Amino acid sequence: MDKKLKYKELLKRIDSLIKDEEDYISKMSTIACEIFQSFDHFNWVGFYRLVNENILKVGPYQGTHGCLTIDINKGVCGKCVREKKVQIENDVNSIPHHIECSSDTKSEIVIPVFDKIGNLIAVLDIDSIKLNCFDSIDEKYLTIICANIY
Ligand code: SME
Repeated sequence: MDKKLKYKELLKRIDSLIKDEEDYISKMSTIACEIFQSFDHFNWVGFYRLVNENILKVGPYQGTHGCLTIDINKGVCGKCVREKKVQIENDVNSIPHHIECSSDTKSEIVIPVFDKIGNLIAVLDIDSIKLNCFDSIDEKYLTIICANIY
């Protein structure tokens, strides 16, 4: 199935599942599960929460091992926090700041999650076993999903 169509169906499914939910951990858990199940080549889908000004802690996720704590000065996730913008790395082995959690991971996208007054409170991190996996279509739909959490 075409990627756009997959995302459109995913959005509908997530909307209907979380529309009456207020708890953001429940929403993050459902979102991680639904995204993970939608694409065969995703090996890690989940959230890191900003617990103080420097530290991300792992939140709801699906997949293999993920580091529990990430300093915001490190990793693709840390860069997303510092720059407050989407990071797409389509060949993670070519960038020195990537933190490797699985040698299977070839590309990664990280989306900032903001609360209603624009504070960054978490990031959504997705890893793929495919090189060159992510583009503006992933960015568009994943950003819509992340705008619906807080
Ligand atoms: N690769 C991330 C670390 C988290 S794991 O991929 C689950 C990074 O460079 O920030």
